[in-house]
Amino acid sequence: MIRGAKIPDVPAINELITENAERGLMLFRPLGDLYEKVRQFVVWDEDGRVIGCCALEIVWRDLAEVKSLAVHRDARGRGIGARLVEAVQAEAVRLGLDRIFALTREQAFFEKRGFGVVPKESLPHKVWSDCVKCPRLHDCDEVAVCKPLTEAGRRDLALAVARVTDPASAGAVAEGELFDVFPG
Ligand SMILES: CC(C)(COP(=O)(O)OP(=O)(O)OC[C@H]1O[C@@H](n2cnc3c(N)ncnc32)[C@H](O)[C@@H]1OP(=O)(O)O)[C@@H](O)C(=O)NCCC(=O)NCCS
Repeated sequence: MIRGAKIPDVPAINELITENAERGLMLFRPLGDLYEKVRQFVVWDEDGRVIGCCALEIVWRDLAEVKSLAVHRDARGRGIGARLVEAVQAEAVRLGLDRIFALTREQAFFEKRGFGVVPKESLPHKVWSDCVKCPRLHDCDEVAVCKPLTEAGRRDLALAVARVTDPASAGAVAEGELFDVFPG
């Protein structure tokens, strides 16, 4: 079952993240950071064992990041990752956020969940505070994927992407003439 994370879950969350970070699949997170941010996490609890986790970190009034998504390697392919993303997305909707995004190497997984690839430069600079801590800073193979949750989010996403890819069309997007960056 999915539930909000509690303090005693932190060592298991840390293990899930560390195991994947050691394989270069995600960023390490210091234990202290996980305790501080435990309220951001949902976990998949199976008979008292935490085998999946995901966090939602608010970046700005309209934007949040889906972070630290990991499912234990023995439990993959059972829909747990999808349920964890659905849970943090529902929380983003409850909070009134317009868009969620992730930085990931799992593009296909996120595309199945209605996210689309966007230029990294279309995200606010604040997002890159984690990147400067990453050993792959100059050799990054992650893509940015984003999902609008509201009509305003769809428009803002189109505008942010247009400003990067086709500044000449940004005016039309702002006027509401060109909305869809990607379908869905
Ligand atoms: C990515 C990850 C969280 C997926 O978790 P999971 O529980 O195995 O995924 P699910 O079983 O919920 O899969 C949901 C769907 O995505 C698909 N999917 C899962 N991983 C995929 C991948 N790597 N590529 C393409 N599709 C994938 C599944 O086939 C399934 O498709 P369906 O809905 O048509 O049946 C898991 O593989 C993982 O922990 N990876 C290592 C850490 C990592 O890379 N995290 C992402 C950091 S942003």
